[in-house]
Amino acid sequence: MMQLPKTGVPRDELFSRMRARKAEDADWRGGRTWSLIYPAGPEVDAILREANELYLHENALNPFRFPSLRQMETEVVAMTAGLLRAPEAADGAMTSGGTESILMAVKAARERARAERGVAAPELLAPSSAHPAFAKAATYLGLKHVQIPLRSDFRADVAAAARLINESTALVVGSAPNYPFGVVDPIPELAALAAERGISFHTDACLGGFLLPFYERLGADVPPFDFRVPGVTTISADVHKYGYCTKGASVIVHRDGEHLRRYQLFVHRDWPGGIYGSFSMAGARPAAPIAAAWAVMNYLGEEGYGHLAGRVRQTTEKLQAGIRSIPGLRVWGEPVMSVMAFGSEELDIMAVGDVMDDRGWCLDRQNGPDALHIMVSPEHAGVADAFLGDLSAAARNHGSSRGKAARYS
Ligand SMILES: Cc1ncc(COP(=O)(O)O)c(C=O)c1O
Repeated sequence: MMQLPKTGVPRDELFSRMRARKAEDADWRGGRTWSLIYPAGPEVDAILREANELYLHENALNPFRFPSLRQMETEVVAMTAGLLRAPEAADGAMTSGGTESILMAVKAARERARAERGVAAPELLAPSSAHPAFAKAATYLGLKHVQIPLRSDFRADVAAAARLINESTALVVGSAPNYPFGVVDPIPELAALAAERGISFHTDACLGGFLLPFYERLGADVPPFDFRVPGVTTISADVHKYGYCTKGASVIVHRDGEHLRRYQLFVHRDWPGGIYGSFSMAGARPAAPIAAAWAVMNYLGEEGYGHLAGRVRQTTEKLQAGIRSIPGLRVWGEPVMSVMAFGSEELDIMAVGDVMDDRGWCLDRQNGPDALHIMVSPEHAGVADAFLGDLSAAARNHGSSRGKAARYS
């Protein structure tokens, strides 16, 4: 097992070793990586770098010691709530990412179901395409995880949801959009099923929260997903995805701010160290993601986000049309945003993926059905033609697959 070095490693050597190791990592700079990262260009990177550096050691656990963090967090939440069309009474909190926002949404729904309806054995009803964070939350928080099957268009089957919902359901979920196919679930219908029974409903807009509002402004046909939909009680939206922040920044918003304080907040008073209050899973919280989120949101503003959304939309349309025009390839479902999966009924799509790997493209694999997966960011505008050229060549000549399994993390 590796031991702590007896004496410190000099700075130059340290960084040269790190750079050597990093050479094996996916290089997001060239636009050849299609998920996990959301770079928005060197100007935005400079803002993020400076904000991260300004808040190197501060701790957001104690907002009274670092009031600037509380102020920025409040403003990030308010700006996000505004994008999601939340009413005045709404309130929310920042978390470290989509998964933590989802954990908190499930926790708040569980507490609400217990307090308002006496639910003792809570269930979580989520489409089978919902992010694994919901399965994780159900496991961590002791809920039964019930999956809603998908229809042939890869959206949640509302009739099946109606059969599966019951008096123990604590939370119903829909994605806007989901990760595997980029389609938006029938949120109004699912939220209505929940609302009729006094059940919480969560829209997972981790991916869409910072992009769909701008697609709508660009005139795109965006299915209803935000607080304008009756019955939606919470929404998660990740600043570290299409908000273009560095990692560690997500927002959860409650339609009713009282729910945040009553069901999400954890308070422990009986401790010699003093009162401990917290809105999320973490104890100590890094300040840099809050600062970076505030900085990038203010730097870009509506105009900047609108401009980047336009670029993402144009690139996505070009890629979709290009993929559809390659003989044998099919985009699964009708993705509404910038995320899609494509496969084939004739070609070995995993073998196509192998050829793309060999040509230096980092594409994720999926199964159910077999597919390659892409998530378009503003930096992909410059590589769309090269990607389509390589994909077309790979579809024509790909041999057989090396058998790489579908894997997300
Ligand atoms: C739809 C959706 N929800 C939730 C998450 C989880 O977010 P995170 O990876 O920030 O925890 C993701 C991540 O890609 C996602 O695509």
